[in-house]
Formats: sequence, structure tokens, C-alpha cells
Amino acid sequence: MSSRGAVGIPEETAEDAASLSGWLSRDHSRHLDLLAKATAAREAKSFEEAGALFEEFARGLLHHMEAEETVLFPAFRAVTGSDSGTTASLDEEHVRLRQALEQWAEAIRAGDGASCAIAEAEFVTQLRKHVLREETFFYRMADDLLNDDHEAADLVRRMASFQSGGP
Ligand SMILES: [Fe+2]
Repeated sequence: MSSRGAVGIPEETAEDAASLSGWLSRDHSRHLDLLAKATAAREAKSFEEAGALFEEFARGLLHHMEAEETVLFPAFRAVTGSDSGTTASLDEEHVRLRQALEQWAEAIRAGDGASCAIAEAEFVTQLRKHVLREETFFYRMADDLLNDDHEAADLVRRMASFQSGGP
């Protein structure tokens, strides 16, 4: 679908559709690859390339978080009843990640190298912790709880085709 291409979300395969954690983790890897390329470009002082890679990374990550918040977290809460704050704490991490990302983007726009390095380090630390928590804990629980009646495949499809402003 063209909507996927517009945000760079990978189209699901049969294998992806069978595993929420597989699809979500591969999307994380895509973001982390872009982040590494953006950092490498900045270190090589290719600032225009670094800026373009940063934009692509930020757009993909924001979309990933919004798709989780709109599609995955509500589905998880629906099957668990009360999830003991699991998705609420992930939501809070998303809020802090967006703030850290915006601070980094502001430092990039200001062209302030020292602030940029600090903001980047802070953001990357937060992101890696969040990704680790989701991949080693939350996605595995989601796989276990949402694997009936093709629900996982449906959730993957809905996240892959998710467009901002609606599920
Ligand atoms: Fe997340």
C-alpha cells in the first residue's frame, strides 16, 4: 500500500503476521540502523545527510510509537483487563522519548554542537532502554496473550497500515 511507503513502514509478510514481536522488533532494528547512519554522517561532518537521515529516523519512530499506542496497547489492555500499569509506563516512556527527541531536534536546528551531543546521548540512552524493555518483556507478553484467532496478524496489519489521526 502506498500509505506504508509514505512512512517507510515495512509491509508484513506471512512470517511477520504470525509474530507481533518479530514485526515490531524488525521495525525497531530499522530505526536503530537509521540512527546509527545519522550518527555516522554527523561524525563525518556530512551534516546535510545526517539531517535527512535524522528526519527519516524521527518520522519512523514517531509513527511506530503512535501505532503502538493506538493499536497494540489498547488490544493488550482489552485482553488483560487491568495490565497493572504495563502499557501506562510504556506510554510514559513514549512521552519522555518524544520530549528528548524534540530537544535533540532543537539542538540540531540551533547548530549548537555541544548541546547537540548532550541531547543526542540522552535520547539514545532512553531509546535503547525502552527498546530493550519492549523486546525482552512487553512484546513477548503480547505474543503470548494476543496469539489467538488471527488477532496478532490483524494487529500487525493495522499497525503496518496505521495513519496518524486514526487507527
Ligand atoms: Fe514503544
